[in-house]
Amino acid sequence: MKVISIFNQKGGVGKTTTVVNLAAYLGNKKKKTLVIDLDPQANSTSGLGIDKHSLESSLYDALLGEEVNILETSAKNVYLLPSNSDLSGFEIEAVNIENRESLLKNILEKTEDYDYVIIDCPPSLGLLSINALVASDSVLIPIQTEYYALEGVSQLVQTIELIKQSLNPNLEVEGVLISMFDGRNNLSLDVVEEVKKYFKDKVFKTVIPRNIRLAEAPSHGLSILDYDPNSKGGLAYKKLANEIIKNNK
Ligand SMILES: Nc1ncnc2c1ncn2[C@@H]1O[C@H](COP(=O)(O)OP(=O)(O)OP(=O)(O)O)[C@@H](O)[C@H]1O
Ligand SMILES: [Mg+2]
Repeated sequence: MKVISIFNQKGGVGKTTTVVNLAAYLGNKKKKTLVIDLDPQANSTSGLGIDKHSLESSLYDALLGEEVNILETSAKNVYLLPSNSDLSGFEIEAVNIENRESLLKNILEKTEDYDYVIIDCPPSLGLLSINALVASDSVLIPIQTEYYALEGVSQLVQTIELIKQSLNPNLEVEGVLISMFDGRNNLSLDVVEEVKKYFKDKVFKTVIPRNIRLAEAPSHGLSILDYDPNSKGGLAYKKLANEIIKNNK
């Protein structure tokens, strides 16, 4: 089982889009995949076709020690530990819980085996994200090609280092993913150069282009594989899944 957190404390950089579509293509490659929606916004829950308003129980209940309710999704071989806005109370309610950084790790130790577990992190460095990093083997960092792309990146790297030194010595960087790339834009090209200078060979060969079909798919509760697999975005996420499978052989 390989556990990968999709993490960047910056908002709107393509974390959820990567979670849903990477999971769908891993599933398509016969990899049994579990998505964990660790964001109270619950975008990966709805993006995989699950109504967040009608959950019997969610990740929030599981973190607080109740039953773990894993659902089937609209994507083949992709399962979901769903979330809803209940989760926004977790960071405060967990203050007095012992080992509160390891609650997700404990859940994963008890659930059945998957080939991949993909965790959708919220855009913050709080207790939820810490739970993700403690439970993970590696971190995938999406970086949007925009002017402030590298702002906050040193803080992000520092957080990963800190978790490595304290709670999870085995944590690695799976890779840095250029997301929402626009080749017609010189700024995009400059940002790619900068990201490569900073992260060197950690940058994935696959680049995710800006593609409207990727933005449309979630409103249908479908991954791009089921919405428009031949779109540029679909082909790019297929390539990313293959790159990750190859790197983990
Ligand atoms: N490659 C892309 N091309 C076009 N639109 C995209 C692409 N990737 C993501 N988007 C859109 O950009 C917005 C932000 O993406 P997404 O929700 O994946 O980011 P996020 O990092 O999960 O955000 P948050 O930090 O709020 O959780 C969404 O509306 C999404 O549909
Ligand atoms: Mg998100």
